[in-house]
Amino acid sequence: MVESVITVSKLVKKYGDFTAVDGIDFEVHRGEVFSILGPNGAGKTTTVEIIECLKTKTSGEVSILGMDIGRATRDIKKRIGVLPQDFNAFDLLTVKENIEYFGGMFREHLPAEDLITLVDLKDKRDEYFKNLSGGLKQRVGVAISMVNDPDIIFLDEPTTGLDPKARREVWEVVKGLKEKGKTIILTTHYMEEAEVLSDRVAIMDGGRFIAIGSPKDIIDRYGTGTVLMVRGGGASAYEKLKTISSRVERKGEDVVVRVDRKEVLPEVVKVLESSGSFYEELQLRRSTLEDVFLSLTGRRLGEGEVD
Ligand SMILES: Nc1ncnc2c1ncn2[C@@H]1O[C@H](COP(=O)(O)OP(=O)(O)OP(=O)(O)O)[C@@H](O)[C@H]1O
Ligand SMILES: [Mg+2]
Repeated sequence: MVESVITVSKLVKKYGDFTAVDGIDFEVHRGEVFSILGPNGAGKTTTVEIIECLKTKTSGEVSILGMDIGRATRDIKKRIGVLPQDFNAFDLLTVKENIEYFGGMFREHLPAEDLITLVDLKDKRDEYFKNLSGGLKQRVGVAISMVNDPDIIFLDEPTTGLDPKARREVWEVVKGLKEKGKTIILTTHYMEEAEVLSDRVAIMDGGRFIAIGSPKDIIDRYGTGTVLMVRGGGASAYEKLKTISSRVERKGEDVVVRVDRKEVLPEVVKVLESSGSFYEELQLRRSTLEDVFLSLTGRRLGEGEVD
């Protein structure tokens, strides 16, 4: 049975007249990675900071591990771990010293060495924090968020600004936490990250959730399915392919065929070969969360972003 560890109902947050979170409802299940995916200013940080008891809500209900956020702040804070979006540690303490420092804030905390192993920083344990790369700093941040051995961990944009390799290394750490049975709430504006890591995703825009579900469910529901791109096929390939499917479109010099039944692929190849139509290459493309965002909002996820 699915157990909900966080329940959010009709949550609203206003800053003056501006509504940053506009009535969202969701549940997070024990042991899952739940991501909030959205562009800058969507309301992701505001949402997680309310659940973390760092910001007050304007209205709505939030409970975490069965406790109301307004009434049980101290007990909640013992059970959660937080990597804030603007995380920083002490420059002139080493990795190990930083982890020990933050551990000292809790009566019960995990040994620093265990946490160093968890985030794979053994060979950097005695390095000053200031000398670490961005990706390694974020891994120290994840270790610090784990010092009190929390059940639930919030990671607010843990990979923003990292290069692809460092980003993937942070993903491995997140997967490791999930394997340990932790519940993870992740915010991100990288759709690939949400797709790779999440059991369920909420796509947030303008303070609202515009889609929620597993990446596959969302893509099946809002995406355009799989398409076959006939690159460089031009008018002649288009004319030939129109005869086998009504779901054929021209996009510049490319021809796009919707793969709505499995026979479409061999049929396209056969028609192209038998008619001797010119094309550069065939490319199969599945809808992504990025396509879903574009079709729901008319904008790209990364549009206007400053990374
Ligand atoms: N303290 C504040 N006072 C006024 N407005 C705020 C405050 N904090 C956030 N906002 C506004 O609320 C909106 C949501 O901000 P929030 O930080 O939650 O977005 P976000 O999705 O985390 O964005 P990012 O991807 O840039 O971190 C933004 O328009 C932001 O400018
Ligand atoms: Mg944010």
